[in-house]
Amino acid sequence: MRRGALSLLLVAAALSAGCDQRPAAPPPVELFLDRHWAEPLPPQGPPPAGFSALEASLSPRACGQCHEQQYEAWRSSLHSRSVGPGLLWQLRLMDQAQANRCFRCHAPLAEQKALLAIEHEWQAAPLLPPPGYVEADLGHQGLVCAACHVRDHRRFGPPARPDVQSGTAHGGFTASAAFQDSSFCAHCHQFPPDGPRVEGKLFEDTWNQWAASPMAPNRTCQSCHMPERQHSWRGIHDPDTTRSALDLGLEVVAPGEGRYEARARVRNVGAGHHFPTYMVPKVELEFLRRDPDGSTRTLGRQVIGWTVDTQLTREIEDTRIPAGESREFAVPFTAPRAGGWKVELVVRVKPGEHYERMYREHLARDAQLPAQAVSHLRQALADVLSAEYDLTRIVAAPPAAAPVAASIAN
Ligand code: HEC
Ligand code: HEC
Ligand code: HEC
Ligand code: HEC
Ligand code: HEC
Repeated sequence: MRRGALSLLLVAAALSAGCDQRPAAPPPVELFLDRHWAEPLPPQGPPPAGFSALEASLSPRACGQCHEQQYEAWRSSLHSRSVGPGLLWQLRLMDQAQANRCFRCHAPLAEQKALLAIEHEWQAAPLLPPPGYVEADLGHQGLVCAACHVRDHRRFGPPARPDVQSGTAHGGFTASAAFQDSSFCAHCHQFPPDGPRVEGKLFEDTWNQWAASPMAPNRTCQSCHMPERQHSWRGIHDPDTTRSALDLGLEVVAPGEGRYEARARVRNVGAGHHFPTYMVPKVELEFLRRDPDGSTRTLGRQVIGWTVDTQLTREIEDTRIPAGESREFAVPFTAPRAGGWKVELVVRVKPGEHYERMYREHLARDAQLPAQAVSHLRQALADVLSAEYDLTRIVAAPPAAAPVAASIAN
């Protein structure tokens, strides 16, 4: 559909080109992004004559010499870790063409793909060493500054802030409103309509979820994930960001003699897409009964998320909460009518739950894997487990006991 709209635009542009001598209007966001995120990205080519080695370098460290704030924030972000052990062990099982499909989002520069091909000794790896403006570790630096900002060695960015002095470094830059548009992120956070699906749902559908949400008219991806243009992209791995998504309520109701139900109501007030947006993270709701003597027992668990089997063929459940909507999670239980107990709800976030299951299955058969894959795989599992955290706990008391004639046996 996007292609269709685009070719119409191109036809319109071609038709008007001959007869209209006024300067062309700036290309609309869609046209800019189609070129900016060409697939695959072409190599930068030789740097312009007047460039110093620092200006020509594609390394985030070089950009950080002058753009310190962006560099420090980026370094703390997951974008800087997109070539981590979770990707690296899988590369050992792939050929170059398969790996390039992953690099489109995880290491998109042509120069990064070339370095990774040399490292993995893939057949079509370049024979010559990389040019001087490509540092040896660029392949492992993940989603680098240049992937979003540099084409043909030219810088592209959002319109300058009014208070910023224009400089002469790297020949200035070209401003485009596309950097402030949610579609900028869609290249990697939205699969195309013919992408893989389970139960008819695209594995990655964040932009569509956002576009259909009540937030879309007022909030871009950037406004939530890059406030004040910060380059930290906090998401579900960050407790404060996740907390800002949720409004939580807990109540205990008593539908019958000695029978109770703990009901958690969870509203997605702060994420501009489903909570959570795709199948990898899970948010676990654990319901506990706390007795006055300090003992606890688990009453039950419920999961918020889209659970799919590790073969990616079968949906197990989908309890994600669309933006602005709420969902109830209930656990029935029996308990003595009196006794001063309370129900506690523990909210636990597992940002990489799907991968945890998948990594464990592969580790159980590690004899079949190349040795280089196994050490990355172990590290990937350790990383996924250490990303888990308890988000919050809330407590509710049962309704005041109504006077009942018969006592309840337990
Ligand atoms: C030698 C210092 C220096 C280096 C190295 C450098 N920059 Fe810049 N950059 C500047 C200056 C100064 C400006 C402001 C230029 C202007 O406003 O015309 C700028 C502007 C920009 C802008 C535009 C900001 C806006 O308001 O939209 C972007 C994007 C950018 N640089 C990205 C990069 C990236 C990516 C790298 C590394 C590949 C890099 N720069 C390396 C000094 C540098
Ligand atoms: C995932 C893509 C992406 C990556 C990676 C990225 N940026 Fe940006 N950058 C953006 C977007 C989008 C904006 C505009 C945000 C907005 O206007 O809300 C931006 C804005 C900027 C600006 C203008 C900031 C301002 O306050 O006016 C500079 C400078 C910049 N980036 C430099 C860098 C540098 C240096 C790095 C690496 C350390 C980097 N960027 C990494 C997407 C990216
Ligand atoms: C070139 C591909 C690419 C682009 C463009 C891109 N991202 Fe990402 N993004 C990724 C990848 C890959 C990851 C996962 C990194 C990892 O954990 O290995 C990621 C991770 C994230 C996360 C972290 C989520 C978490 O689990 O906590 C957020 C938030 C995010 N991106 C937001 C954005 C936003 C907003 C934009 C647009 C300004 C954007 N991204 C543009 C590829 C991209
Ligand atoms: C269309 C873009 C895209 C493509 C293609 C893609 N990924 Fe990702 N990948 C992402 C994004 C975005 C995230 C982070 C999502 C989030 O945290 O919500 C991610 C996260 C991951 C993670 C978890 C984070 C980490 O670094 O451990 C792994 C592992 C991963 N991808 C592996 C792969 C592999 C292997 C391929 C190729 C078969 C691949 N991806 C292809 C966009 C992509
Ligand atoms: C109104 C604010 C808001 C907007 C708009 C928004 N997000 Fe988020 N996003 C959040 C919050 C809060 C979280 C953490 C809770 C969660 O994971 O849903 C999050 C989480 C994420 C994650 C982590 C992975 C996951 O499974 O949830 C990714 C990736 C992400 N957002 C990308 C995007 C992209 C891309 C867009 C634009 C198409 C976008 N977000 C728009 C607030 C927002």
